[in-house]
Amino acid sequence: MEWMIDTADLTKIKELIEYYPICGVTSNPSIVKKAAPQDFFAHMREIRKCIGKERSLHIQVTARTAEDMLAEARLIHEKVDDAVYIKIPVTKEGLKAIKLLKEAGFRVTATAIYTEMQAYLAMCAGADYLALYINRIANLDHDPMIVVEHVAAAIHAHQADCQILGASYKNLRQVQETLVHGAAAVTVPADILPLTFANPSIEQAVEGFERDWFSLYGEGNDLL
Ligand code: E4P
Repeated sequence: MEWMIDTADLTKIKELIEYYPICGVTSNPSIVKKAAPQDFFAHMREIRKCIGKERSLHIQVTARTAEDMLAEARLIHEKVDDAVYIKIPVTKEGLKAIKLLKEAGFRVTATAIYTEMQAYLAMCAGADYLALYINRIANLDHDPMIVVEHVAAAIHAHQADCQILGASYKNLRQVQETLVHGAAAVTVPADILPLTFANPSIEQAVEGFERDWFSLYGEGNDLL
């Protein structure tokens, strides 16, 4: 199971990687707009410095043609580093770009996936990750978990060398369900992951243990 964070906010990335088992950072142009960095590439290099080479960094292209996507991918590798996963929206041009990028040895995250057809084609084109847009699929009145299940089954049946990356989340329930239905990885917005600990029962349990311990050994006498 892989946990990634879907943000370009450096402060949040720093905090989250300290506490959570984060193995990657993803963004797209709309996420970058929220962080509003003056110099895009300098900002991405900062994120890389912060997360290290041991975590994956996924950066999305903005071009609309396969040729321009390739040129942007090369630029991203030149300006950031050659370990970056290039995020390519699965349009017709994007599909061509995925094939060409894989032939050229790039790591690719196929994104903007709303349908099983997009996922199957991106898988066969060689994408390393398939970013399924969970909340956006649900907004279109489709069940995103059926898409997750079918794509997971196809990856398994064909022994494909790629993984589902659940994306586009609005709540933790969607994240959990994606994992239960067979996704190997999820990328979660920075403000949603901490909701894991918003359940007051957790703190109440810990307070109860503390109270009992101190009532036995005296206030302030913890194990240290
Ligand atoms: C990440 O890879 C996706 O681009 C992102 O999760 C989309 O999220 P949104 O549907 O909230 O825009």
